[in-house]
Amino acid sequence: MSSTGLQGLERCQIAFFGTSGPKIKRFTKRGKRLMALKPMLLGLAMASAASILPAGAAQLTVGFSQIGSESGWRAAETTVSKSEAAKRTVNLKIADAQQKQENQIKAIRSFVAQGVDAIFLAPVVSSGWDAVLKEAKEAKIPVILLDRDIDPSGKDLYLTAVTSDSVHEGEVAGDWLAKTVGDKACNVVELQGTVGASVATNRKKGFDTAIAKHANIKLVRSQTGDFTRAKGKEVMESFIKAEAGGKSICAVYAHNDDMMVGAIQAMKEAGLKPGKDILTVSIDAVPDIFKAMVAGEANATVELTPNMAGPALDTLMAYKEKGTVPPKWIQTESKLYTSADDPQKAYDSKKGLGY
Ligand code: AHR
Repeated sequence: MSSTGLQGLERCQIAFFGTSGPKIKRFTKRGKRLMALKPMLLGLAMASAASILPAGAAQLTVGFSQIGSESGWRAAETTVSKSEAAKRTVNLKIADAQQKQENQIKAIRSFVAQGVDAIFLAPVVSSGWDAVLKEAKEAKIPVILLDRDIDPSGKDLYLTAVTSDSVHEGEVAGDWLAKTVGDKACNVVELQGTVGASVATNRKKGFDTAIAKHANIKLVRSQTGDFTRAKGKEVMESFIKAEAGGKSICAVYAHNDDMMVGAIQAMKEAGLKPGKDILTVSIDAVPDIFKAMVAGEANATVELTPNMAGPALDTLMAYKEKGTVPPKWIQTESKLYTSADDPQKAYDSKKGLGY
């Protein structure tokens, strides 16, 4: 969701959404199906449901089309989504799309065919969703976007989007760099996220806007690293080769921490000192970037909470139970962490969270 996309929309700023949602009624669709079963079959059906669901049984079934597992942040989002659903006795069905939009479209169609109560979608790219989301809308299945946005043409096809302001994240990264280098000339290389992903477009836009105010800071190279460590390392190696063995690079900006961890490795293998010879600023705040900060090899990161599902589930439950229509955008917090912010403590607080 870009800042510009906010115009005319209601904003709801949240840091942490409550974890326990209101209780909701059982849904008649499933209730009717159960009533039609003979008593013995009913007993069997209930026993088998009890074996896979926590006490109290699931009240809602939500299909989640997840992008894949390209980064530590993504792994944590999947883990946190499962635990947030379990806390609310929601039956969450996760479909891993392995980074492919076509798999996400298939998963959405399958969730519609199954008659789930809602669909959560983390859209790998921003375009190409209108047809399938229309099918969900016609089936009266609400869709909630998690962590990434879709093109404005699809605005009426989803209930709400739980995302950060990814333009702002880029601005925070750019402002930090400008403040850190002061008047010194600084050539920057950029590792972009997945081409066509809203967060990649927006994080670039925000950073470009922030550094445009400082004539001494120049973006000299920019290429996608697809949000992965391996690609981040590979692209950084090519940047180093093209920039006099890295000597003409003053800073790296990566759209996520995983690419930065790969880039740090590339710098070290080239005999450079990341965090000192070349400054680093990235996004996500995963434990490994704090480990790198403790070692003096990374400088700054902008936090993206992996808990998008908690707010989405609370919103969905309020919508289903009371008809509460949420704002079109539920914005999560973006906080800057630098090596001055006790990275060891940040690492300790995050390391067991599924990253
Ligand atoms: O959409 C959020 C981004 O997707 C995260 O910053 C990145 O790590 C992930 O792959």
